[in-house]
Amino acid sequence: MTTASIGLIGLGTMGSALALNIAEKGFPIAVWNRTTAVTHQFYAEAGSLAANIVPTDSLQALVEAIMPPRAIILMVPAGKAVDDQIAALAPLLSADDLIIDAGNANFHDTNRRAAAQSGPRFLGMGVSGGEDGARHGPSIMGGGDRADWDRIAPVLTAIAAKAEDGAPCATWMGEAGAGHFVKAVHNGIEYADMQMIAEVYGVMRDGMGLPAGDIAATFDHWNGGVLQSYLVEISARVAAAVDPLTSQPMLDVILDSAGQKGTGRWTAIEAQHLAAPVPVIEAAVMGRNVSARLDERRAGEARFGPAPRRLSGEITVETLEQAMIAGKILCYAQGFAMISAASASFGWALPLPEIARVWRAGCIIRSSMLNDMAVALSQDAGRNLILAPEFSARLEATVPHLRQVVAAGALHGLACPALGAGLAWFDMMRTARGTANMIQGQRDFFGAHGFDRLDGADVHHGSWGNTQG
Ligand code: 6PG
Repeated sequence: MTTASIGLIGLGTMGSALALNIAEKGFPIAVWNRTTAVTHQFYAEAGSLAANIVPTDSLQALVEAIMPPRAIILMVPAGKAVDDQIAALAPLLSADDLIIDAGNANFHDTNRRAAAQSGPRFLGMGVSGGEDGARHGPSIMGGGDRADWDRIAPVLTAIAAKAEDGAPCATWMGEAGAGHFVKAVHNGIEYADMQMIAEVYGVMRDGMGLPAGDIAATFDHWNGGVLQSYLVEISARVAAAVDPLTSQPMLDVILDSAGQKGTGRWTAIEAQHLAAPVPVIEAAVMGRNVSARLDERRAGEARFGPAPRRLSGEITVETLEQAMIAGKILCYAQGFAMISAASASFGWALPLPEIARVWRAGCIIRSSMLNDMAVALSQDAGRNLILAPEFSARLEATVPHLRQVVAAGALHGLACPALGAGLAWFDMMRTARGTANMIQGQRDFFGAHGFDRLDGADVHHGSWGNTQG
């Protein structure tokens, strides 16, 4: 029976939550899962929302249940599973039906899938916010043909998170893989925000000797100020939680080895291809990789002994808060600059202010500072965020604190790679005469690569045999 206005494949955690969200907003949805029992269980547990859900036992039945032209959301693991699902689905669909990949796809895969000459239409859609976001309002970053986006926009805007001003956090970012690209940068920033929080947590725990409860209270306090954000909020809750097994703080029983599915790494790799510096994100990816090398780290501590780490009063939690504010601004400035670089390189017109706006609610990196970033980017999207007056002023006030924290960390062996990378980048960005003249000299010395001169003279190679002194 053809009753559904949209379909969804893949009733895992995210798929189930998204399907319930769609059903709740009044759109009848047909669902299918590879394991039929999962579909039946989902339907049985849907409560009153079951009235808007059509469970189906085969792909054919799913397709027949949706009104043409059809739109079907894929919520299956990124990579081969998406290709396999498209291959199985495509023969059952017409050319004007639409497949929407809502997983965490690599945007290069989305570009490839969008370029397919035959088969149904295709959109790539980044969805952020975890299970709760998918269920009650995610942030949605779409990519593909604008007309296809417009066709399903009523559903997506209805299910998306709403920012404080009521604007739905669902935006078309551009052609092909643009949506998944923006989602990848979101995840790179997610890694960076998390790493910087972990670094200040380390300063408080190891440098200041604060117990988890005090650290929780500090994060909670910060969440009431400039640093208000979902990640700071949940960090307070993580730090406050108690392990039911041991009655110890939960944080104190968790192994310090971070997992990753790879989206932050994609951002770092792509940034290198684009020659767009995102050192805070790169440091965050590095931090996760180092964290996972537990045996080597244990061997390192056995060989060199632990770093002294304990500070003697040189850093206060107020200084840490200011340092975090600086680190966050620097990280986002890098992320938005990378998006600008991609826009130019891939021929997209990625809407920077809109991206800041779509990240204001629903997604993992949502924060109040994104409101101000959206304003600054709408004044001048081509200007690096550190040069927007509002953020220049904030950096002037906070970078001295960042410097103090990074310096104290370096002196006492408290690793702060992301905060340090932000600071080094800032110092390079505010230095008109840097040190790359030495690199150019070296390149010319061993490879006759040539250089430009400050005085503009038309001589582009050195006489390397001529030495002073
Ligand atoms: C989101 C998140 C999500 C991501 C997880 C896990 O925006 O909702 O980015 O998509 O998959 O956060 O990512 P890692 O396993 O790489 O940490």
